[in-house]
Amino acid sequence: MVALAENSKKRLSIQVAQIAPETTTIRSLDWDRDRFDIEFGLQNGTTYNSFIIRGEQTALIDTSHEKFRLNFLETLKNQIDPAQIDYLIISHTEPDHSGLVKDVLQLAPDITVVGSKVAIQFLEDLVHQPFRRQVVKNGDRLNLGKNHELEFIIAPNLHWPDTIFTYDHKTQILYTCDAFGLHYCSDATFDEDLEAISPDFQFYYECLMAPNARSVLSAMKRMDELGKISMIATGHGPLLYHNIEELTGRYRRWSQSQTKAETTVGVFYVSGYGSSDRLVGAIVNGIVKTGTAVELVDLRSTDLQQLQEIVGRCSGIVVGTPPAGSTFAQTNLSAILGAVKQKQAVGIFETGGGDDEPIDPLLNKFQDLGLTPAFPPIRIKQEPAENTYKLCEEAGTDIGQWVTRDKSIKAMKSLDADLDKALGRLSGGLYIITAKKGEVKSAMLASWVSQASFKPLGVSIAVAKDRAIESLMQVGDKFVLNVLEEGNYQSLMKHFLKRFPPGADRFEGIRTQDAENGAPILADALAYMECEAIARMDCGDHWVVYSNVYAGRVSKPDALTAVHHRKVGNHY
Ligand SMILES: Cc1cc2nc3c(=O)[nH]c(=O)nc-3n(C[C@H](O)[C@H](O)[C@H](O)COP(=O)(O)O)c2cc1C
Repeated sequence: MVALAENSKKRLSIQVAQIAPETTTIRSLDWDRDRFDIEFGLQNGTTYNSFIIRGEQTALIDTSHEKFRLNFLETLKNQIDPAQIDYLIISHTEPDHSGLVKDVLQLAPDITVVGSKVAIQFLEDLVHQPFRRQVVKNGDRLNLGKNHELEFIIAPNLHWPDTIFTYDHKTQILYTCDAFGLHYCSDATFDEDLEAISPDFQFYYECLMAPNARSVLSAMKRMDELGKISMIATGHGPLLYHNIEELTGRYRRWSQSQTKAETTVGVFYVSGYGSSDRLVGAIVNGIVKTGTAVELVDLRSTDLQQLQEIVGRCSGIVVGTPPAGSTFAQTNLSAILGAVKQKQAVGIFETGGGDDEPIDPLLNKFQDLGLTPAFPPIRIKQEPAENTYKLCEEAGTDIGQWVTRDKSIKAMKSLDADLDKALGRLSGGLYIITAKKGEVKSAMLASWVSQASFKPLGVSIAVAKDRAIESLMQVGDKFVLNVLEEGNYQSLMKHFLKRFPPGADRFEGIRTQDAENGAPILADALAYMECEAIARMDCGDHWVVYSNVYAGRVSKPDALTAVHHRKVGNHY
């Protein structure tokens, strides 16, 4: 049974479907959402999925985003008298699933909220009212009657520190909330179209789960002990039913290869404090782009021994300064300072606009212990804007590149000399790619550019995976390809090859005008083309971005394109 209540203006709708005996999903369909915290480049909207299980007692698993307040609560009341709900199971406290917990508690004050210890603590800060609670641990069970025996798995960091999974032994449905999800909005309740959902499934994994690959593998180990899983009821996108083995297999493979990365950066922060989660997400994205693994540690829910072990095995550490005066802050910082080793790289960010531990004395202490700052301290005084997230991502890339620099140099030198020279005979033109997405602008010098199609007109550009501009060249993004002129390219080339600090304005001192798509056209370029990224192919250390070209102009008809001749193939 599927019912749709459409709100055509905002393109928010609700889908209700029975998915198993006594089990209903209420899916809040957010068709147009185009940005989701740290997951840049959301193309296909998203959904927030909630579930009702009716045994002799009734449980509601998760709620919805607050933008669905009217639609969701109305639909819930049509399904069940809220006073009849006995348990509200909180998979984790992120606002897109827990945004309406306070409203549900108002409708049903006697409800018992079920969650991990950390989730219940977070909820206290969120709802500011007393509520009944049941803290669950790994393996705890809750019998709703009619054989709906629920078993809980503690799955920290997937992707919030307080995450739990819930398994219903009767229906064999595993409710995983963010894990195995994807930002993909369609009328399909299930995952029948594997090809359509695969890119978003992978993108979501890379943004949210890859930084916690070890935690993914531990949670999957616990899932293996549950017995048969007939459906994975995720919190975002279609529920997994047709392709469970394939999609969980991908999670396992991707996580195994992540944990095999030789180099790790530890990121230590306090979750839920200020905007730290999203900033951390952006830093982590930047690190992961360099092929470096990340260990994410919430200082509020870690023990000292574990903390020191992680610090000890990392090549670099990033610390978000905790709130000043908090009881755990000093102890945790001392533990980190006690475990660091000379030659590790360090980066520090603050989020609280003045209420954090002071940033400079802390950085000095790390430097005195022999650590090298990999990026300038990030000070965030105001509400973060898009540029702030980009700055954090670039800072993450800087520390990732720092800790992997020896490996990168070794890989470049390892090429057979003859092959290296032969490859060096491949040459290309010289171009500056410029892009603007929201408020964020970026640019890079490129020579691995080639026309790739006549009809429709298309070009391919190889973009290193750790390039700053890479996150502005996702499928659907628009950018400009500026062609440099023979004999007149040196100053532009020199400018764009500078090592820009994180968040720097790369166009300072450069004459530009805006293209139709918003990206800067360089006034001194010989020609430009407006492009839209259509597909990205994973090619080792580069993405080949295939793009349609839909507009363009030559400003100097008689001039020639700058050509880049090389001697060796292991450099551009
Ligand atoms: C001649 C030349 C050609 C280059 N071509 C490419 C290219 O096609 N793709 C790419 O990803 N980087 C290329 N690069 C590297 C980037 O231009 C440059 O190092 C980069 O902008 C700096 O990294 P960032 O933008 O991530 O800070 C080239 C560099 C040179 C010197």
